Amino acid sequence: MESRQLKQVRIGLCGLGTVGAGTVNILQNNLAEITARSGCNVSITHIGARRENPLCNTGSIKISSDIFAVADDANVDILIELIGGTDAAYELVKRAIANGKHVVTANKALIAKHGNELFALAHTKGVTIAFEAAVAGGIPIIKALREGLAANRIEWLAGIINGTSNFILTEMRDKGRAFDDVLQEAQALGYAEVDPTFDVGGMDAGHKLVILASIAFGMPLNLDALNCEGITDIQPDDVRYAEELGYRIKSLGIARRTANGIELRVHPTLIPAKRLIANVHGVMNAILVKGNAVGPTLYYGPGAGSLPTASSVVADIIDIARSLDVPLAQRVPYLGVPNDQLKAQPILPMSEVETAYYLRMSAHDKPGVLSKIAQILSDAGISIEALIQKEPQEGHHQVPLIILTNRTLEKKMNAAVAQIEALNTIEGKISRMRVESLEG
Ligand code: HSE
Repeated sequence: MESRQLKQVRIGLCGLGTVGAGTVNILQNNLAEITARSGCNVSITHIGARRENPLCNTGSIKISSDIFAVADDANVDILIELIGGTDAAYELVKRAIANGKHVVTANKALIAKHGNELFALAHTKGVTIAFEAAVAGGIPIIKALREGLAANRIEWLAGIINGTSNFILTEMRDKGRAFDDVLQEAQALGYAEVDPTFDVGGMDAGHKLVILASIAFGMPLNLDALNCEGITDIQPDDVRYAEELGYRIKSLGIARRTANGIELRVHPTLIPAKRLIANVHGVMNAILVKGNAVGPTLYYGPGAGSLPTASSVVADIIDIARSLDVPLAQRVPYLGVPNDQLKAQPILPMSEVETAYYLRMSAHDKPGVLSKIAQILSDAGISIEALIQKEPQEGHHQVPLIILTNRTLEKKMNAAVAQIEALNTIEGKISRMRVESLEG
């Protein structure tokens, strides 16, 4: 049989942390599959890292402590950016593009913040920037949204897109563990960001949501308009009451097309416990996407970790390798439509977003308290869907009161909550969370 001369594809890998080590391991262990699928000899020729990682064997690969030496190396065709952050990574990717190299990155913050500029630069240089690993780790959601669902007008998407937060919420619910204790474990397992406030504060999910929304709705990346809340205020009581009401608390990223603009929000959300996505536990991620032709679709898999994230990095390498000779205009555009056809759309402020609500308050155990609260809600056009009132504990005069409301505009709920908090029969602040039915 005649043997075919395979094209050499030379990889420059910057960053040898959790995902970098996974990328080295996959490129070594799955070489036969990678060669067959790319039709190329893919090999790492240069690594930019300050130190070796014992989790992978770099053998005789050249290692430089200066990552820019990789971006300037004429023996590199594709630069893999796995250093994270938005300072050095931004400069590195720009340098690689300027030098005519394709780029693969797992850096959601970089794409969400600087993607519009980087895609424009890459376009002028005729190179690809691939970022499958930036969203939902090992789930090929970018490819699904950009190619598999290309026939659809996307109506909405809602995802569990931060593995660390989902891991924490799952452990709190199932094992009653303390927040900080679980967060430390997530850090030890390599799930969390270097600064874990990005995870628990919602920003990591926000970066990913901004990317998904741009592809879904054909608009430029718009990080400034993101509405973002984390999971740090969730109390064990909320987890329990949500279960009692038939719901589960998940940190969701939601992007929805409405008549007045696009909703772009990350926050803790009560969702019916019977939904498939409510049963996504631990570090697993899942994204529900509703297309007008296909209906609701669900994508599930590990959202963080070494090999799962590296699986997406290497898939991007294969994609680029097999189409190295294809002109940029014939490749799939970065955000699904060509840069110059992206259309900016208004993003709704949270005050204009309509959802149902979960409210938890501490009320005096006196006649008439409940009717006053019901009156305030009713005057605001908000109806009560469910209510739990517990007996006061012995020696206490306050009772926990939990209310589920129907859908209302956030600004109406804000006004009603302020009025209820002003009642002298209500103690302290009202805890509230948004509720989504996620019906297809
Ligand atoms: N810190 C991120 C997470 C890693 O927990 O989901 C994957 O992006």
